[in-house]
Amino acid sequence: MDRKIYKPQQFKLSGLKGISDQTLEMHFKLYEGYVKATNELTERITAILADGKVDQEEMPAYSELNRRLGFEYNGMVLHEYYFANMKRNGGGEPPKRSSFREAVERSFPTFEIWKTDFTSVGKMRGVGWSIAYIDPATSVVSNHWIELHQTGNVAGFIPLVVMDVWEHAFLLDYKPADRPKYIEAFMSNLDWDAVERRTQAVAPATSTAR
Ligand SMILES: [Fe+2]
Repeated sequence: MDRKIYKPQQFKLSGLKGISDQTLEMHFKLYEGYVKATNELTERITAILADGKVDQEEMPAYSELNRRLGFEYNGMVLHEYYFANMKRNGGGEPPKRSSFREAVERSFPTFEIWKTDFTSVGKMRGVGWSIAYIDPATSVVSNHWIELHQTGNVAGFIPLVVMDVWEHAFLLDYKPADRPKYIEAFMSNLDWDAVERRTQAVAPATSTAR
């Protein structure tokens, strides 16, 4: 069986509010680096496994390659979620009877409190992501801080809203201390239709299903 080679996705993103095209172009290039590294690491791990065993002397390299694969692989996938949940003329609020809104209102006292939690997670000191996940077993939404790309992702949970808060996501447009301004910009470009599609795949709204 041929091994899967990942290809960078193309995102038609430009003209966003508060996130420059220059930032997006730089960010697409960074993303392509994660795709390339994922393919390279997979190839090297495959080469070690080719003789059907991992020799004792191969173990240190094998271990390091696998640890790096967690970083690069999650970096690739999270950027795909991130670019795909923004659009020109996005923002506003998810419709009242949408699946996402319903899931959030089952999980938090109000939509506003979900939003405060999501954006506040994004303001935490450190390098990483704020991600709103849904638990497919319970349809409960929860927000999580993801350190780097790979630490804190909850096994089995599905990402609904994915926000990159690494400094490279905004440093051409804002000072490091102005991360909250970038977060505001991100929210003003959010593609709620994309979020809704992700939610409906897991938890269709009860009110619209009637
Ligand atoms: Fe990024």
